[in-house]
Amino acid sequence: MKFLGSKVLESEHLVLRPTIQSDLKVIWLILRDKEVAKYYLVGKIHDKWEDELPWQYKKLQHAKDADVFQWSIVLKSENKCIGQISSQKSLNNSLSVRDVGWIIDKDYQHQGIGFEAAKLMLDYMFLEVGIDKIETCAAIINSASWRLMEKLGFKRIPKLKKIKYTYLEDEVECFCYELLRDEYLKFWKY
Ligand SMILES: CC(C)(COP(=O)(O)OP(=O)(O)OC[C@H]1O[C@@H](n2cnc3c(N)ncnc32)[C@H](O)[C@@H]1OP(=O)(O)O)[C@@H](O)C(=O)NCCC(=O)NCCS
Repeated sequence: MKFLGSKVLESEHLVLRPTIQSDLKVIWLILRDKEVAKYYLVGKIHDKWEDELPWQYKKLQHAKDADVFQWSIVLKSENKCIGQISSQKSLNNSLSVRDVGWIIDKDYQHQGIGFEAAKLMLDYMFLEVGIDKIETCAAIINSASWRLMEKLGFKRIPKLKKIKYTYLEDEVECFCYELLRDEYLKFWKY
């Protein structure tokens, strides 16, 4: 495994790049939409930008670290940040990553952008970084997310997990998924 960080990646319609200062408020605004954030956010988010800013700056300091995998999604045709995609190094296994996360601005959903961005990230993680496995989960009620996982080749495993999301009062049940490198290569006929 080579820790290469959030290298700039490019596909037909998108550029994925490490988050830069001017993206911070854009991403915060995307997440202020509760429809986008309700099955995504598990941490605190401030209602006022002035309160949120110091936290965001803290994250920005690590955006280019070699073991950070977090990209802003930029739509080439508009040169505009319209979302974010990320995964995290596993705590106990340096060859795998966990908690794949993706958010797309509401106005740009259902256009194939989530899929294009996720495929780009997974190709990079499996083919260039050289990870052997990804483990993640999605709220059962959030079919957009787990259907996207299945479209990418993730396999649902017989395990349920409960997560307390920021904007929901109660914990919700989540499907768990994993994807092994060999399975991914076979799924996409690489
Ligand atoms: C999940 C998310 C990133 C998908 O992004 P998107 O750009 O709209 O997705 P795409 O248009 O690329 O669709 C890819 C696949 O996802 C699934 N999908 C997307 N939206 C869906 C919906 N509303 N209902 C059911 N399936 C959906 C479909 O399988 C779709 O493939 P298909 O069009 O061939 O059927 C987007 O809905 C989002 O930002 N949701 C809010 C944030 C969130 O909950 N993140 C996940 C936390 S685990």
